[in-house]
Amino acid sequence: MRKKVTVVGAGNVGATAAQRIHELGYADVVLVDIVQDLPQGKALDMLESGPVIGSDALITGSNGYEETANSDLVIITAGIARRPGMSRDDLLLTNMKIIGSVTAEVVKYSPDCLIMVVSNPLDAMCHHAYEVSGFPKNRVFGMAGVLDTARFRTFIAQELDVSVEDVQAYVLGGHGDDMVPLVRYTTAGGIPITELMPQEAVDRLVTRARQGGGEIVALLKAGSAYYAPSAAIAQMTEAILLDKKRILPCCVYLEGQYGIDGLCMGVPVKLGGGGVEEVIEITLTPEEQAMLDRSAASVRELVDVMRKNQDGDAKAG
Ligand code: NAI
Ligand code: 2OP
Repeated sequence: MRKKVTVVGAGNVGATAAQRIHELGYADVVLVDIVQDLPQGKALDMLESGPVIGSDALITGSNGYEETANSDLVIITAGIARRPGMSRDDLLLTNMKIIGSVTAEVVKYSPDCLIMVVSNPLDAMCHHAYEVSGFPKNRVFGMAGVLDTARFRTFIAQELDVSVEDVQAYVLGGHGDDMVPLVRYTTAGGIPITELMPQEAVDRLVTRARQGGGEIVALLKAGSAYYAPSAAIAQMTEAILLDKKRILPCCVYLEGQYGIDGLCMGVPVKLGGGGVEEVIEITLTPEEQAMLDRSAASVRELVDVMRKNQDGDAKAG
């Protein structure tokens, strides 16, 4: 029997991710959205591509959660996306309400699933889904580090005129402009990039990776990136469904690792059939740790705003 993956949110990221996962062929997919008939239409269109691409996997659309019952993995992309002039943080309170209600439904119908959060601001939304779900911390995680790292790898490969396959990198921290590209652990063909390009180029590529999301928003104008994000979602999905135990940067709830306690942040993890099977701790220099602490402080500010808002809602209610 094939595994079952639900994608909540049939917009740009959700639909493209659903398409990529359906094309892998080894999981049935349920696509959910609040817009009447939208997920049904997109899912049917993708299903009809099966004979051409050679996928026997099923893909269905729904405006409810009954069809999602007993999913192995639920990917949450529901919510609003950035437009020019907006930061990811501007989405906070709108998406917090959406993620809260979606997570409650997901837990009701798939009490044993893994949850991958994608909606922004990513770290805060992951934190919220973790709290609302009541799931153990290995079963709720966020996608951002794979995307941020892919952007950094792309820019490095272009700069050096080498294959993207030979460039390895890590971007840690929150999914914001103060994310932490770890230059020391970034290599091309196993050689540290600091040996291959001048410091000026390294700094320029770090800045571009940090602002990579905004660069796409400025070009698209009506929304944010979805091709690279959906590729990152598919890679994480494959690591889980095939129990590959990939080492990937993911957003996870930390309890003291990297000196961060009680907060979801991007760090390297072992991702497999059990979700986050291990948080991998690497030694950071004092400068890297300071950057990570700054990034954590930004995420904590958002979590505090959410908490105050929840308190306000509770009092008003
Ligand atoms: P989009 O606007 O194209 O799609 C969002 C979809 O969510 C819409 O179809 C909408 O109807 C649906 N939706 C809204 N409320 C819902 C609810 N309560 N239940 C079910 N569906 C609901 O936006 P896009 O481009 O797909 O982005 C989705 C989210 O992902 C945004 O928050 C965006 O910022 C985030 N994102 C995160 C990335 C990351 O690296 N973590 C990368 C790219 C996007
Ligand atoms: C990105 O980095 C918007 O978070 C999204 O493209």
